[in-house]
Parts: sequence; structure tokens; C-alpha cells
Amino acid sequence: MKIAIVKEQATGERRVAGTPETAKKFIGLGAQVAVESGAGVSASIADADYAAAGATVGDRASVLDGADIVLGVQGPDPASLSGVKPGAWIVAGLNPFGERARVDAYAAAGLEALAMEFMPRITRAQSMDILSSQSNLSGYKAVLDAAGEYGKAFPMMMTAAGTVSAAKAFIMGVGVAGLQAIATARRLGAQVSATDVRAATKEQIESLGAKAIFVEKVAGIEGEGTGGYATEMSDEYKAAQAELVSSHIAKQDIVITTALIPGRPAPRLITDAQIATMKPGSVIVDLAVEQGGNVEGAVAGEVVERHGVKIVGHRNVPSRLAADASALFARNLFNFLSAFWDKEKGAPILDEEIGNAIRLTQGGKIVNERLLAS
Ligand code: NAI
Repeated sequence: MKIAIVKEQATGERRVAGTPETAKKFIGLGAQVAVESGAGVSASIADADYAAAGATVGDRASVLDGADIVLGVQGPDPASLSGVKPGAWIVAGLNPFGERARVDAYAAAGLEALAMEFMPRITRAQSMDILSSQSNLSGYKAVLDAAGEYGKAFPMMMTAAGTVSAAKAFIMGVGVAGLQAIATARRLGAQVSATDVRAATKEQIESLGAKAIFVEKVAGIEGEGTGGYATEMSDEYKAAQAELVSSHIAKQDIVITTALIPGRPAPRLITDAQIATMKPGSVIVDLAVEQGGNVEGAVAGEVVERHGVKIVGHRNVPSRLAADASALFARNLFNFLSAFWDKEKGAPILDEEIGNAIRLTQGGKIVNERLLAS
């Protein structure tokens, strides 16, 4: 069983899908681990660290030669995978809806592509969930990015020269990223409020010491679909939410938006007219910018200014914390493969529940129900 850890090819991607720690653990299971030279450099991991963990380090061709499993953060270019075993597994965040042509190419090449972002949200798969591990870091980093752009302090400070008032931060969308953003903004001393469409988050917001801002007495308030994800809301709800948010947003210094609905464009939460009501110098961070954006005027990969308000739209926020993001991502992959490791075969064998959820291609065809239905 040869496991290949390849260098990421996407522009700006600093993470790596395996670390010396996980390489060592795979070797402990009896696998051979090969790492493409330079794969970990932008996550502060030297080739020598992988070698010290027992992996072989070499050029891409030698690493892929005879590989049974290729680990990536993002999906590797199918054309760059020659030399792997027929039917080899590609295990990565494959962005199946966004990169359909690439998935088709994996099928055509006879590869078995496993999309880690399709991991079911069940208790036993929590430690394998790349969306959670990466979102958590994004939520933290979004607050630091906001603080970096903000021309004032977050905490209240009483100094001899006078008092600095605390920043007011509003978190929209309280999933994994939003919860971490609340906790981080609180630690920095901001006055924090938050909102979500899922009623269950109200208690979570309050338990973190923030104020919950919620639409009430409108049909469909539960807002929760399968797997704990949000559903699309009614028009009545959307109107009530817009009104509530408008009056609240005008008083905020910092707004972090994280709202996503699986398989759909990100919901629009803030309009240009609402931005115009905010104080100049305020900062909005749109973590959903690459999925269509929660904020009107947000631009992926840029910090733009509208009505004196900065709108931060960094791409690939987890990659901005490449060392920790890689460590957690790599552990997600190890937790996944090791949970299914068959000692006799010396290889992982997936069960139906998880296998069917994440397997995109097999035997030259697309086999994933979600992808076939799209
Ligand atoms: P997500 O990244 O899909 O969405 C972020 C947040 O945006 C969600 O809380 C969602 O309700 C909210 N949202 C959507 N539309 C909105 C709107 N119009 N206005 C305001 N907010 C809106 O969510 P994430 O972070 O992936 O977590 C979703 C749920 O899944 C959480 O309850 C989380 O605890 C649960 N979960 C369960 C796991 C497991 O059991 N293995 C692993 C990870 C998360």
C-alpha cells in the first residue's frame, strides 16, 4: 500500500494533505508513504521532517509511481497523475459541484475519487470532517483579518488619556466558523451579537456570552434541514430578517458573515443600501465570498471599500493559517483512512454509509447520487 502526498497545484494554496505526524501513523499501519519534494514548505514543513518520519521524498513522478492512494487538499489535476495504480484512490477536497469536469476526468482515467467534503455529518465521522476543521480556523482568522483592517481597538480601554469604547461585532451565520468567530471576537474584547436561521443556534450563541438576534413569529423559523444544515428560507422570513438586520447592522463596527446553504449559492445577507447605513471605518468580512458572497459588492480575493466600509473577501481563508490547517486536514484524512483499515489486507475498505456518500467515481463512471442528481 503506497500513499502519495502531493504538492498542491492551485494558486495560493499553502496547505498540504499530510504531515510528518500522519505520515508516521500511516507507516505504523504498514503503508509506505511518499511525499513530493517541497509539498509542505508553505505550511512550514521541510522535506527533511517527512524523511525523519520515515517517508520517502522525491519528485512527483517517483512519488506517484505505483501509488494506491493519493492525498491532496484540493483535487490534483488528472493529467498530472500518470503512474498511479489503476483504480487508485484520490482523497481530497474535490469541490465536486464546482469542478465537475475534473471529476469526469478522474472517472475517464479509471480513478476512484473520494470527496472529503461529502463526509456525512454523523457522530462517528466528526473527526474526519474537513469542513469543520477548516471552518473553525476560518472563523478565527476572519476576526483577526477584521481587526487588522479596523482602525480602532476591539476591547474597551480605560486610559489616563480617556476611554476607548469596545467594538461591536455581529456574526451572521453560526455554524462552525461563526461559533469560532464569536469566541474569538469575545476574547479580543468586542461586544458580540450573532444571528442564524437555525433556531438551535440561539442557545449556542448565548452560551458563548453573545447576544442572539433572531427573527421571531415567522413561519419556518426552525430553518434546519438534514445533517444540521440550513434550508432555504421563505420570502416572509427573508423580509423579516432583512428588516431586523438593517436596524442592527447600522450600529455595528465589525460584521462577519459565514452563511452557506449546501448545494446553493450563498444567501445574500447584506445589501449595498445596508452598508451605506454603517459608520465609516467599519469592516465586513465575507467568508462566503467564494460561494457567491453574503455581502453585496464583496470581491473574492480583494479588500474593497464601499461607503467608507471595508469589505474583506479573502479567498481560501484556511490556507492563511497553513500550518494548523494542514495539521488538522491531515489528521482528518488519517482518521478517515485508519478507521477503515483492514489489517489483513493492509488497505482501507470503506463501509456503505460513508463510501457511498463520498465516492464520486468508480469503474470509469460517476457513481455519486448527489452528483448524478445535480
Ligand atoms: P455551513 O457552513 O453550511 O453554514 C454556516 C451557517 O450559516 C449555518 O449555521 C447556517 O445555518 C447559516 N445560515 C444559512 N443561511 C443563513 C441565513 N440566511 N442567515 C443566517 N444564517 C444562515 O454550516 P456548518 O458550519 O457546516 O455547520 C452546520 C451544522 O452542522 C452545525 O449545526 C454544526 O454543528 C453541524 N455539524 C455537525 C457535524 C457532525 O456531526 N459530524 C460536523 C460539523 C458540523
